[in-house]
Amino acid sequence: MFEVLPQLAPDPILGLSAAFREDTNSAKIDLGVGVYKDEQGNTPIMSSVAKAQTILLERETSKTYITPQGHQGYIDGMLQLLLGNQSGVLLADRVAAVQAPGGCGALRILAELLARCPEKAKVWVSDPTWANHIPLIGSAGLEIETYPYFDKAAAGINFDAMMETLKQTGKGDVVLLHGCCHNPTGADLTNAQWDQILVLAQERGFLPFIDVAYLGFGDGLEEDAYGIRLLAENLPEVIIAASCSKNFGLYRERTGLAAIVTADSKTRKIVQGQIQSVARGIYSMPPSWGAALVDIILADNALKTEWVTEVNAMRNRMQTLRTMLVERLEKNGANKDFSFLNTQKGMFSFLCISPEQVREVRAKHSVYFVDSSRVNVAGINKNNVDALAKALVSVL
Ligand code: LMR
Repeated sequence: MFEVLPQLAPDPILGLSAAFREDTNSAKIDLGVGVYKDEQGNTPIMSSVAKAQTILLERETSKTYITPQGHQGYIDGMLQLLLGNQSGVLLADRVAAVQAPGGCGALRILAELLARCPEKAKVWVSDPTWANHIPLIGSAGLEIETYPYFDKAAAGINFDAMMETLKQTGKGDVVLLHGCCHNPTGADLTNAQWDQILVLAQERGFLPFIDVAYLGFGDGLEEDAYGIRLLAENLPEVIIAASCSKNFGLYRERTGLAAIVTADSKTRKIVQGQIQSVARGIYSMPPSWGAALVDIILADNALKTEWVTEVNAMRNRMQTLRTMLVERLEKNGANKDFSFLNTQKGMFSFLCISPEQVREVRAKHSVYFVDSSRVNVAGINKNNVDALAKALVSVL
């Protein structure tokens, strides 16, 4: 049966982790998969999460199924985090949501929901976008198109070209936007640009689909929600996929949220049934542990304050690492201005070097990052930054 299937190339991101593990060079540097690392290169359990785990061990008395939609406390807490305490769409009972197995699970549920609609949606994704967006959404049978987003030569967003392309959209088109900390480029829309996207969505009638996996890693938990809240409060329908992998460090617990702002409360009930039925047909019921932890943290003032402090510390550290890398590149004689890295946000940046240069630095210096030139900024530390800068300068 299976021998006729083709051998696939390794996943562009996960394949790097495997290659890194196999590399015997003790000076190897991993800037591949998007996982936060501390100064020692570890990904520890966040302190607020560790405390919540102690509470949950006491509190959890059964391993029976949780409900099909997931922990309601988690869903409510996450929706408030994303949409704000005073959210009009929450008060109006217009948001359908389920706990999902990770941000990927959320993206897939939402893509399957779109595929159920009689009007076959075309999904517009940024060029470039996160590599896994295409299979997650495309495998639901949806047509995918790209809109221009990042101009490598100018190392910034090509907003005019993006808007020109989105002017061609209409009802039935879905536009995937990164809520903050664009993956892979780190180049984010300004608030003024979000304002213009709202006006265009109102004019053209396209449906925004916002993927938010790095809330709090850009400018702050509240600041990073600007675009989501603006569109959610001012459009009849918005789709949101959220992840707790990075900002709660719950990667392996697969903790995400699929939410849909609907036109009215009656439609909310229909959509709620539909997304639960989609989930039932894929994995039946979500895993419990990660969402139960987030529920505990968001419901407890002291734990929430501790978590916010930890998110702020991670964000500030990544910003410091950007500055440090830019300085060291300059000090080591880079013939290219990398100061744009300081204006980019979140865990990732595009170095804007060629795939050949990326492969050369990997082969000669065991520095691992994605061929597109995306680096995981959190993989940099005081011990490896000099070697990294020298290695990069050597291939420029
Ligand atoms: C990344 O972009 O590196 C992360 O979101 C991990 C993944 O699954 O690709």
